[in-house]
Amino acid sequence: MTAAPPRSVRLTGWGRYAPAQVLTNADLERMVDTSDEWIVSRTGIRERRVAAAHETSASMGAVAGLRAIRTAGLEVNDIDLIVVATLTPDYWMPSTAALVKEAIGNTTAAAFDVAAACSGFVYGYATASAYITGGLARNVLVVGTELLTRFLDYSDRSTCILFGDGAGAVVLSAAEEPAPPAGIELTTDPQGAYMIWLPAGGSKAPASSDTVARGQHKIRMEGRETYRFATRTLASTGLAAAAKAGWTQRDVDLIIPHQANIRIIEAVAKGLDLPMDRFFVNVDRYGNTSAASVPIALAEAVNSGRVRPGDKLVFIAFGAGFTSGAVALEWTADPARGPLGEASVRPEDITVRQPVDWGSVDPIPPALAEILARPLPGHMDLSNVAPGEPAHAQTADSIR
Ligand SMILES: CC(C)(COP(=O)(O)OP(=O)(O)OC[C@H]1O[C@@H](n2cnc3c(N)ncnc32)[C@H](O)[C@@H]1OP(=O)(O)O)[C@@H](O)C(=O)NCCC(=O)NCCS
Repeated sequence: MTAAPPRSVRLTGWGRYAPAQVLTNADLERMVDTSDEWIVSRTGIRERRVAAAHETSASMGAVAGLRAIRTAGLEVNDIDLIVVATLTPDYWMPSTAALVKEAIGNTTAAAFDVAAACSGFVYGYATASAYITGGLARNVLVVGTELLTRFLDYSDRSTCILFGDGAGAVVLSAAEEPAPPAGIELTTDPQGAYMIWLPAGGSKAPASSDTVARGQHKIRMEGRETYRFATRTLASTGLAAAAKAGWTQRDVDLIIPHQANIRIIEAVAKGLDLPMDRFFVNVDRYGNTSAASVPIALAEAVNSGRVRPGDKLVFIAFGAGFTSGAVALEWTADPARGPLGEASVRPEDITVRQPVDWGSVDPIPPALAEILARPLPGHMDLSNVAPGEPAHAQTADSIR
């Protein structure tokens, strides 16, 4: 009996989705005692996206996921495992992965969620990679999707300015030929367990009118401690993953970091003695989208021409837990496929099935109701425009 050849893992597909509505720093200035200047100088964030009432983590994840499958040139049923990383699932059960599976029309895959907060996508990537090398799956869809704006306290200026909504995804595929060297590093430091957390709704403090009255269903964070952990751990985790691939930081062409705060990314660059142009940054436009942050940034980096075949990439993330994770990989896919995959899936064509007896609950936080009611950026409101003669045409003087 001959042993099966070891399987290698390739990243074959990537996709992203961001809701259309934008929440700017000027909007936040009207909600809490803050300023655009403070937010930009402390975080680098200028705006973030807000999901509309009909959107959920599953619906956004399904759009990004289907785009990644199309980019990979695969059929939906070629996917035999779906891993969704999210800290804002549609429900506690079923898994968001199960809903994504149905929404994209897949009938073949196993599907489950991973919970590692903002490091979730990297943990999902590691899980998918292990399934492939272990021979348990051939094509895995890994989705990071978050709808954080429904879990924020819009009276807490230290948290509500940071986060936004969106989804990103990759497809990892088995290949029989050897892959270039790669490395994965994951860490968890439970000392930080209560530095970023959502107190109520779990078995320790089930949701009740009391927990809601105390605001325990919203995200809480100790910003300074989280900042310290992030700057300390991101560089060391990234270096460890790179070392497993046989590289030093100088070999890395592009680092795709978790987009939490530009100052954290700058501190990591300084710690690694690398220039900022080795880091992809889009935190200014999305804020922190937790598990969606790295795959959104990856898709934007590739589709904007920042990544070429042969480039050495490192993804690095950190989050509640405290968790951190990094992936080092050499890019092998054709970057030109990304825009095609993105254009081939329209969000309006994807629906997540609702239970038939669902009494609708308005999911929108009152503080965001006005934001979500206004016309979308780039959308021209024509509802008050009555076709007819211009006023000057109705006066005799104007007729020549
Ligand atoms: C949240 C964060 C931006 C705050 O920046 P900071 O420089 O650490 O600010 P501090 O928390 O020390 O607060 C400084 C002052 O600004 C105030 N402040 C906090 N948020 C503010 C806001 N949005 N606007 C204006 N002032 C604000 C504080 O109340 C404090 O005022 P005080 O000195 O009178 O008490 C920063 O700690 C951070 O980015 N932490 C990491 C967060 C993160 O990445 N979380 C996600 C992990 S995945």
